Formats: sequence, C-alpha cells, structure tokens
Amino acid sequence: MNSPLVAQTSDSLTDPFGRTVTSLRISITNRCNYDCIYCHHEGDTDSKGEIPVETISNIVHAASGMGVDKVKFSGGEPFMRKDFEDILSSLPKLRDVSATTNGTFLKGRAQDLKDAGLDRVNISLDSLDPQMYRFITNSNSNALNIVLDGIHNAVDAGLTPVKLNMVLLKGINDNEIYEMLDFTRTYNGQVILQLIELMDFNDVSRYQIDVNSVEKDLRSHADEIRVRTMHRRKKYIIDGAEVELVRPVDNSEFCANCNRLRVTADGKLKGCLLVNDDLIDVSSTPPEDMPGMLKLAVSRRVPYCRN
Ligand code: 5AD
Repeated sequence: MNSPLVAQTSDSLTDPFGRTVTSLRISITNRCNYDCIYCHHEGDTDSKGEIPVETISNIVHAASGMGVDKVKFSGGEPFMRKDFEDILSSLPKLRDVSATTNGTFLKGRAQDLKDAGLDRVNISLDSLDPQMYRFITNSNSNALNIVLDGIHNAVDAGLTPVKLNMVLLKGINDNEIYEMLDFTRTYNGQVILQLIELMDFNDVSRYQIDVNSVEKDLRSHADEIRVRTMHRRKKYIIDGAEVELVRPVDNSEFCANCNRLRVTADGKLKGCLLVNDDLIDVSSTPPEDMPGMLKLAVSRRVPYCRN
C-alpha cells in the first residue's frame, strides 16, 4: 500500500476498480422542448431546482485540480438554460468542453457559445425524414429544418467536429444510415456520425436492432477501420465519411473503460447513468470540501456490467 514505488494518487480520482475519472458529464436541466420516444431522461430528478452556475463552477474547479480535463453538458436540453454562456465562462481551462443537444437552439447562438468557451457539440439527429423525425422527437413540423440550420451554424461557428448522435431504431431509421453518411459527407470531415445502440428505458425493446449485423455491414463497406482506446470503439471510414458505433448495452468493456463521473441537474454526484443509489448531494458544499466529496463519489463507483 505504502510502497515508495507506487505513485501517491491522493489528488487523482481512481475508483476501487482501477478506473480513473478524467471526465464529467453534467446535466444542467430537466427541461426539454422534445419528448423523444426512447429518452432515458438523464436529467430527471425529483426536485425542481436547477444546479446554479456557482455550484457547477465549484465542482469543475475542484475536479480539474484532480485530473479531470473534459466536461460534457447535457440535459434535458442544456441550451434551455439561458445562462449557459455564464456557466461556460465560469469554468477553468479544460482540454475539451462539449454539450449534447437536440440542436433546436443553436441557430443564432452557436457563435456566442463558441466565444464563451464551448469547444464542440453532439447533436441528436435520428432521421432526415421530417415525418420520422417528428414521430421520434414529438416535435413540431418545422423542427427538423431548424435543427439542420443549427448544424450548419455549429459548423460555421467552429463547434467542430460536430458529432451527430443517431440512436438506431428498428423499422424507424435503420434504413437511413447511408443517407445520414451522405449528409455528413457534405461537411468535408467536420461532421461525424455516431450510431448509438438503443438502451431500453421507455419500454422500447420493439425498436431494438441487431447491432452485430450493423457492425458487419459497416465493416464490409469500410475503406479503413480505426480502433479508439476509449471503450475500444471502432471508427469506420466509408468514402471519406467517418462513422462510429457506440454499444453501451451489456458491454463490460464499455464499463471497464468508463472514466466519467456524472452530476445531476439538482447538484448530486452520480457514478453511473444506470445506478441511482450512490448519489451525493453537493449543492451546498463549500469549495474547500468539494475534493473530498468527489473522492467519496468516485470511491462508490461500480461497473454496472462486469464479466
Ligand atoms: N438509448 C440510447 N441513447 C439514448 N440517449 C437518450 N436516450 C437513449 C436511449 N434510450 C442518448 C442519445 C441522444 C442523447 C441525448 O442521449 O445519444 O442523442
């Protein structure tokens, strides 16, 4: 334990399974203008209050002193927060600051977000067919056009690479993968497609797809396959377009490589999307106590899926 050969890791955030936390995923609101059929309602909490700018800043400052260099904001829809630019301005210097958004509010705001310190965005885009898009998201008839404009604005503002999140849904959008790739190709490498395996949260197992067959199909079309160290995710290069397959379901490798700590919209630290009994409320924790709370949260992290 006290071997001089072992580096003292008192300031880093390594959990009992040897996984070092280097990234935070912060849900900043439960509110969303959409109601997607598959949504896992990541931001949902019982309380109505939203984590204030100051708490976010305290958490991220403490975490960045302990090896965290990456922050992703999510919701609900994070850009429903009018003070999102204030949140960004309150952060210490980080390697990567991003947000996962449905893209509705990017138009006219993308440049301000970039200027305030946002590096890039992940935009949910499950279909290019207006009717399907509307069905999936429960949005209005013009929503898809607004989001397509938003993608354009995000690229223009340099919030790149823009990653498009496409949750694979059997019988809904599984015939659109190559069309989506054609769409990303029009952005000359600045837009990347992420195909995401559906997690069954909303009793949506009827939409679950055989991801192995998608993988096989991508492999047969790929000019090149790159393997990312994170989650050993594979990237397929198809006619110059980049597509990645994200497989979180029953994937022990995914969990073994997880380096994230989550923060809920009401200011609680959370070890895993799928675990709800490890929450630690830091909404009124003073800055000097934040490192200890982060350590406690990390010490409770358990891989949801193990071999
Ligand atoms: N399965 C997979 N991904 C989901 N997301 C939300 N709900 C699910 C689910 N049930 C992810 C998608 C979406 C982002 C906001 O959250 O990637 O784009």
